[in-house]
Amino acid sequence: MRELFLHLVPAAVVCCLVLSSVTQAESDPAKLYQTSCALCHGADGSGDTAPGKAFHAKDLRSDEVQKQTDAQLTEVITKGRGKMPAFGAKIKPDDVTKLVVFIRELPKKK
Ligand code: HEC
Repeated sequence: MRELFLHLVPAAVVCCLVLSSVTQAESDPAKLYQTSCALCHGADGSGDTAPGKAFHAKDLRSDEVQKQTDAQLTEVITKGRGKMPAFGAKIKPDDVTKLVVFIRELPKKK
């Protein structure tokens, strides 16, 4: 019985580690941005990509975008606008909030 227990504990620990790293990756806004947004908005938010230029995505670091409220940016990401796809069905509200915080950080990295 004791031996079985010694085998089960490490297995459970490994299991937990794997699970927590998976969920962390999913809600990491930098990774989410890279996989879902950078295609159009560019890794730096400049919109300097082929689809970004074709769809006239604004520079996310510009005053024009940054002066909008968190609620406005959240709404664009969730419901979409013009050529910007709606992500409300794919990205959890919590993660959308994190993406807005991430967008607020972009001008500081310029
Ligand atoms: C298919 C290309 C595309 C993808 C993918 C995309 N966007 Fe956009 N996004 C746009 C375009 C184009 C606009 C401008 C929409 C308009 O106002 O006409 C925009 C607008 C925005 C705005 C509002 C800024 C403004 O123009 O005032 C935010 C914020 C934004 N996107 C965030 C994101 C985030 C976060 C993601 C990833 C979850 C994302 N976008 C993915 C194309 C894209």
